[in-house]
Amino acid sequence: MRSLLCTKRSRRLWVKTVVISGGNDGIGRGLALTRLERGDQVVVLGRSEVKGKAFLEAAAARDAADRAFFIAADLSLVAENKRVVEEITASFPVVDVLVLCARFFRSARYETPEGYENTFALEYLSRYLLSHGLTEALEKSEAPVIVNVAGPGIQKPGIRWNDLQSRQSYSGIAAQMQAGTANDLLGVDYAAKRGDRRTSYVLVNPGSTATSFAGAYDPVTQQQVDAMKRMGKPVAQAVAPITAVIDAPPAEPLSAYVEGQRIAVDHPALFDKKGAVRLAQVTQELLAS
Ligand SMILES: NC(=O)c1ccc[n+]([C@@H]2O[C@H](COP(=O)([O-])OP(=O)(O)OC[C@H]3O[C@@H](n4cnc5c(N)ncnc54)[C@H](OP(=O)(O)O)[C@@H]3O)[C@@H](O)[C@H]2O)c1
Repeated sequence: MRSLLCTKRSRRLWVKTVVISGGNDGIGRGLALTRLERGDQVVVLGRSEVKGKAFLEAAAARDAADRAFFIAADLSLVAENKRVVEEITASFPVVDVLVLCARFFRSARYETPEGYENTFALEYLSRYLLSHGLTEALEKSEAPVIVNVAGPGIQKPGIRWNDLQSRQSYSGIAAQMQAGTANDLLGVDYAAKRGDRRTSYVLVNPGSTATSFAGAYDPVTQQQVDAMKRMGKPVAQAVAPITAVIDAPPAEPLSAYVEGQRIAVDHPALFDKKGAVRLAQVTQELLAS
């Protein structure tokens, strides 16, 4: 039996191993520190070594240096996601929680060295690879859960099946919207294939939150982002309902929350089962090619 943590109220909580992509900043970082404060072991995945070091220092300041880990990785690269999965499974045989937060907005189209449009690669493909790649380690947990922090519950344009990589036309917003839809479909497909597995998939829309809004913005979009930073809710407010889900994951294979409120996942336009099967198939073909 793995170690137990006793709180002041003598309530017994499992010490969880929580992996957070994009845990270097914004909601991911807020969650990472919150989970450390609750006694969990936290593995942050991020690109910036400087921010990774700052996370480890923040952990040490909380007397949690031995429970904090940082893995530097560019998650827009398939090869890096595979390396990270190998590294995590070699060091942490059991993963209780996977939180997916990494994002980077690009006003201008950028193609990764592997030939994928960056938003598709980082905000969808990485989440596909981490979700499936860490499933074996998650299945060893007593209450495994994947929390994909994206944008469920809002009507978004569908997947551009004939131009997944936005080669014919690109806008940063459209690429983000497509990634959001793809993450909804990832959740639907992952849950549909659950079979004997126990890992629950939870889609979370935190609502407008004042984070770092990581990105490379054109001047007009930068102004809008600056306004969102001023008007968004504090990170702690977005973190609270997510951490509640981690403490008590829903039993259902798929669930979704908008700003802490659970929403139905049977709306065919928002959680399209056929589209989910098709996207999973296309993704497997892309990764195999
Ligand atoms: N903030 C909102 O208003 C809002 C609203 C709805 C949904 N969401 C969703 O909530 C999630 C978290 O958003 P946020 O606003 O908290 O994020 P954020 O503050 O913009 O932080 C993004 C994180 O992604 C990491 N990242 C960027 N490029 C990366 C790469 N190539 N490889 C690895 N890591 C990379 C960054 O780490 P480095 O700095 O190390 O690169 C950073 O930790 C996202 O999925 C977002 O779509 C946010």
